[in-house]
Formats: sequence, structure tokens, C-alpha cells
Amino acid sequence: MENILAQSAVRLQTNGAPLATASQPVIQLRDIEKVYQTKTIETVALNRVNLTINKGEFVSIMGPSGCGKSTLLSIMGLLDEPTSGVIELDGRPVQSYSDKELAALRNHKIGFVFQSYHLINDLTVLDNVELPLLYRPGVGGKERRERAYAALDKVGLSARTNHFPSQLSGGQRQRVAIARALAGRPEIILADEPTGNLDSVMGEEIMDLLLGLNREDGTTIVMVTHDEQQARRTERLIRFFDGSQVQ
Ligand SMILES: Nc1ncnc2c1ncn2[C@@H]1O[C@H](COP(=O)(O)OP(=O)(O)OP(=O)(O)O)[C@@H](O)[C@H]1O
Ligand SMILES: [Mg+2]
Repeated sequence: MENILAQSAVRLQTNGAPLATASQPVIQLRDIEKVYQTKTIETVALNRVNLTINKGEFVSIMGPSGCGKSTLLSIMGLLDEPTSGVIELDGRPVQSYSDKELAALRNHKIGFVFQSYHLINDLTVLDNVELPLLYRPGVGGKERRERAYAALDKVGLSARTNHFPSQLSGGQRQRVAIARALAGRPEIILADEPTGNLDSVMGEEIMDLLLGLNREDGTTIVMVTHDEQQARRTERLIRFFDGSQVQ
């Protein structure tokens, strides 16, 4: 119900002029194609995808294995380039950004969360969360530590800062990975099957956490999932099949 109300609020207009809540695109994909070429086979992973993600939305993406979901997320997060088509961030084509600006965007604007957590096993929880901030100009040691503690507090892991990943449950490891993304204060979180390795109880916990970040902090979230129930909890569900959007 809440979701339906939020969506209709976005669409409301008075006298033709959008309200303050009107949708503001943060990521726009125009005619995006991604073709992988190996020696033996050409795969069209994305076939002319057109998609807009608005500020503050929580969008889930579903579809069968191999239909291009991870490719889509990598392209949205500027980790990979499309074969053709245009990506716009905040209304500006990424082609018009300098390499330096792009690196900053990748670093500051977008946080990634992956199915397999991607934590470093011989670093503590705290050091894992601090790690991406080491490469950020202008963030000193004290601020790094403060941000890491705040992010771990947010995901409910303040008591585990000195643990190593192997001493945590799967759900806790994923929460560390989310804290690591949050420490960078991203506007957008791109999550590729964040609950894929978790049982349903832990999966729900991670969903609650992501929904909280979206509702309370206004973080825009795009999440790939195989779980219909989780997808139903988000504002918008996009279904993919064979490299294209089907709904
Ligand atoms: N680096 C690559 N080189 C060649 N082909 C690739 C590469 N990465 C992905 N592909 C192919 O592109 C297609 C889309 O892959 P992608 O990983 O985006 O699928 P997916 O929807 O995320 O699948 P899953 O649900 O299994 O994670 C697949 O057919 C895959 O084999
Ligand atoms: Mg995938």
C-alpha cells in the first residue's frame, strides 16, 4: 500500500507543473546494447535497453539466468561500457565526463553489493569497511574510522568490528558488505542478488535493511533478485528476458 501511494505521489501534477516530489532521473539508459565477442560465439547480453531510474526509487530486476541482469548492473555502475547506446547520470551523458570525473562518480555516487560479499578474509570487519575510503582523497584516518563505525552501527554490527569475516554468519557478512558501500555515502546502491547466498530469514533481514536505507535516507536502489517475494516489497519490478525488458 505504502509503495502504491509513493508511486502515485511521484506522478501527481498540478496545473501541468510537477510537484516537488516529481520524478528526477538519476540513471537513464538509452538504446543500450552489450555484445560479448569470444573466439567462438557472439552473445547479445543487452539488446537495446531503455530504462530510467528515478531518484529515491527502489527497483528490482528479475529474469532467468543469463538474461543480462549482472551486465545491466555493471553498465549502470560504470564498471563496464556498452557496445552502443547512451548512459546518462543526473541527465548528463557519461561520455561527456572526463576520466577523472568518471572515476570520482564511480567512487562517490555508487555503492555496490554482490551476492558473494567480496570481503577480504584476513582483514577485520572494521578494516574491510574502511578499505574503499583509503583511496578517497580528502578523507583522513579519523574520518575514515568514524564513517566505518557509523556504517557498521547502521547495519547493526557495532559489536563485531574486530571480528574476521570467517567468524560471521552469511547475513552478517552481507551486512558488512552493505556497511562498506554505505561508508562511501553513495546516492545509489546497485545490489546484484544480495540475498542469493542467504536463507529466507537472513534474506528478509537484508531486505529490511535495504528498504530502511531507501525509505529513511532516500538512497536509490537497484537490486537484482530471483526472489518474487522480495521483488514485491520494492516499488517497481522490471522483468528481463534474453537481454531485453519484458515488463
Ligand atoms: N565477460 C563475458 N564474456 C562473454 N560472455 C559473457 C561475459 N559476461 C557475461 N556473458 C554472457 O552474457 C549473458 C548475460 O550474462 P549476465 O551475467 O549478465 O546474466 P545474468 O542475468 O546476471 O545471469 P545470472 O542470473 O545467472 O547471474 C550470458 O549469456 C553470459 O554468458
Ligand atoms: Mg548475474
